[in-house]
Amino acid sequence: MLHFVWPYLARRGGAYSTSSAEAARWAFARVGIAGRRVYDLGCGYGRVLALARRMGAEVVGVEIDPVRWLICLLRCRCRVLLADMFKVDVSDADVVYIFQWPSVNARLSEKFRRELRRGAYVVSYMWEVPGLELVEQSPELRVYIYRV
Ligand SMILES: C[S@@+](CC[C@H](N)C(=O)[O-])C[C@H]1O[C@@H](n2cnc3c(N)ncnc32)[C@H](O)[C@@H]1O
Repeated sequence: MLHFVWPYLARRGGAYSTSSAEAARWAFARVGIAGRRVYDLGCGYGRVLALARRMGAEVVGVEIDPVRWLICLLRCRCRVLLADMFKVDVSDADVVYIFQWPSVNARLSEKFRRELRRGAYVVSYMWEVPGLELVEQSPELRVYIYRV
């Protein structure tokens, strides 16, 4: 319920949407996340973080909305930062997961090229990320895998 009502109570943002667990699972299986550090930038209520954790990753979430952040923290019991993802250093990431708008992805692309180490992966649900090397995609699941 809160999921739908909160954006209107906060008078910002639109209706919240979440990734398909199937899409995230497929992408994580392709890149191999067990024992690796996975960030979800804009982790929302933590669906993807919980999945990545179950798949053996060390997970870090970043969320700007305090209600989503709190619910995610309680749900995932992992490291979740209440912060603007553009201000968080992700240079220690092995995999960064995003589900953001195309205009946001373009800004994130610059950040990734600046900060991520060579060989790190970026997984984007729904929208492409310009300026990164696409290594794999699933048009059916709407998920894209990039390597820096
Ligand atoms: C479409 S939801 C994706 C949630 C989750 N990652 C998933 O895939 O199910 C996007 C989330 O990004 C968060 N967000 C938007 N801009 C942000 C920013 N600058 N820093 C951190 N989080 C942000 C929103 O509050 C929202 O929870």
